[in-house]
Amino acid sequence: MLERIKSLREKAIQELEALTDSTSLEEWKRSYLGKKGLVTQLLRQIGSLPPEERPKAGEAANLLRDELTQLYEEKASAIKEAERLQAAKAQAIDVTLPGRRPQIGALHPVTQTLREIIEIFSRMGFGVYEGPEVEWDDYNFGLLNIPPEHPARDMWDTLYIAPPYGKEGNMLLRTHTSPDQIRVMELMRPPIRVVVPGRCYRHEATDASHEWMFYQVEGLAVDKGITMAHLKGVLTTFVREMFGKERKVRFRCDYFPFVEPGADMAMDCIVCGGKGCRVCKFTGWLEILGAGMVHPQVLRNVGIDPNIYTGFAFGMGVERIAMLKHKIDDIRYFYANDLRFLKQFRA
Ligand code: PHE
Repeated sequence: MLERIKSLREKAIQELEALTDSTSLEEWKRSYLGKKGLVTQLLRQIGSLPPEERPKAGEAANLLRDELTQLYEEKASAIKEAERLQAAKAQAIDVTLPGRRPQIGALHPVTQTLREIIEIFSRMGFGVYEGPEVEWDDYNFGLLNIPPEHPARDMWDTLYIAPPYGKEGNMLLRTHTSPDQIRVMELMRPPIRVVVPGRCYRHEATDASHEWMFYQVEGLAVDKGITMAHLKGVLTTFVREMFGKERKVRFRCDYFPFVEPGADMAMDCIVCGGKGCRVCKFTGWLEILGAGMVHPQVLRNVGIDPNIYTGFAFGMGVERIAMLKHKIDDIRYFYANDLRFLKQFRA
């Protein structure tokens, strides 16, 4: 009997050592220590041995059961640890792999141009003000010397909307940033030097040079002794900062009801240098903004005495400046949200 116990022990230990996974370990446990396991059977047979053999055989069989149980537990925790390590390895991160680059956006070309314009004017001492896109008819037209039924209103056909509940008057989407001349002069007294960027809207059939929504930058300077020379100096400086020191400029008479005299400003064509090409429609000149001396009636409308103060104002289209700067031939690209276009302006 002792011999059988000994060989059973050797066989069990040998098999146990070869095991590497928990499934076969449980199999092993069942076949030795389970209800019908070999060790359990052995223990049952002790009772049928001759009495003189029982104590020794019983002791040896019990020792074997305890030993195998202990070995089983050691093996079980070793396998469990190995399996845990392996699972961790399977989902481990390879820290030597290069990271995924996050997609970083860029400023819209109109925003880039707008910021450039504002920077140039702020170097000349202009502050920045912003007004509402939804505006009173009176600010967009009336206070700018364009009374109802005035034919000049035809220059700016727009989108009218209902006024807020309980308020009287006509509201519209502003057609230009000029109403903010009024708002600025209501807020502060001269000396005033300010630029006003913002969206404008017009009832427009769109084409390569017209959009129903676009940006303008308005400029306003009011002080004692402001003359047309200041207007020309500031705007010539702007054009040369924006488009190059060699640019020539031209001022011609133009009509806007809120300035007197009024002017349009042009620069020599950046494509052909003034010789004439398709971009300048063979004139050699590119018109870039409207301007003029603030009309005395506009000053009176905001309670500024035109006998003491004078001022100049101007308004430019930001998309037009961006188009000239980047040689873009259709304004509709800006708001078509085509990434093939927008990605060319990553700054
Ligand atoms: N507001 C005018 C326009 O949109 C431009 C302008 C501004 C002209 C200021 C003169 C002075 O056409």
